[in-house]
Amino acid sequence: MPAFPIKDGRIVVIRKAEPSDLDRIMANLEAVAKEGRWILTEEVTPERRERFQKALTATDQLHLVAIVNERMVGGLDLAPYFGGPKKAKHVVGLGMQILDGYRGLGIGTALMEEAIRWARNIGLMKISLSVFSNNEAAIRLYQKSGFVEEGRLKRQFKIMGDYVDEVEMGRWLG
Ligand SMILES: CC(C)(COP(=O)(O)OP(=O)(O)OC[C@H]1O[C@@H](n2cnc3c(N)ncnc32)[C@H](O)[C@@H]1OP(=O)(O)O)[C@@H](O)C(=O)NCCC(=O)NCCS
Repeated sequence: MPAFPIKDGRIVVIRKAEPSDLDRIMANLEAVAKEGRWILTEEVTPERRERFQKALTATDQLHLVAIVNERMVGGLDLAPYFGGPKKAKHVVGLGMQILDGYRGLGIGTALMEEAIRWARNIGLMKISLSVFSNNEAAIRLYQKSGFVEEGRLKRQFKIMGDYVDEVEMGRWLG
């Protein structure tokens, strides 16, 4: 299990999620969703939970969790793009969240390094994601990890009263 020092001197362990992590992963997703500004998810429905439970044992996707002092503080998911049609078998979609209070410490960077390594190892060619244009930390992380902006849907979302763009970003692995 890879372990990295983070900026406050603690250690983060990055490992693959296990079925027994389901409750904690869903609780973390719900906590970030409730902040109302970073991700599209607004609540964790029973259907979402059920889909994620199945996803945890699928071999064509990656679900990582980040642990600091035995607390699960974040995670990253790579899943087949649009469910994995043949035309897009070379692409995975990325989503990630770190709990408030654990951001800006390098945990996102550590998760991303593991994700890129996994995607390359299984021969994928591209990681794709979308991010709100006002999410500076996320965009900074993606840019420093080699993602480039590929397109933008103007004023696609309204968050806390402000219109923001949906920025499409991609990381070619070839
Ligand atoms: C976006 C997110 C995953 C980034 O993870 P993180 O652990 O906070 O990121 P890191 O600490 O590894 O920092 C990555 C880079 O972003 C920069 N960064 C971190 N916080 C920042 C902030 N508030 N503003 C601007 N840049 C910031 C860091 O400086 C770092 O760049 P550097 O290496 O050049 O210093 C995390 O903040 C998060 O989960 N946010 C809420 C949910 C979310 O936005 N998910 C992504 C939706 S697309």
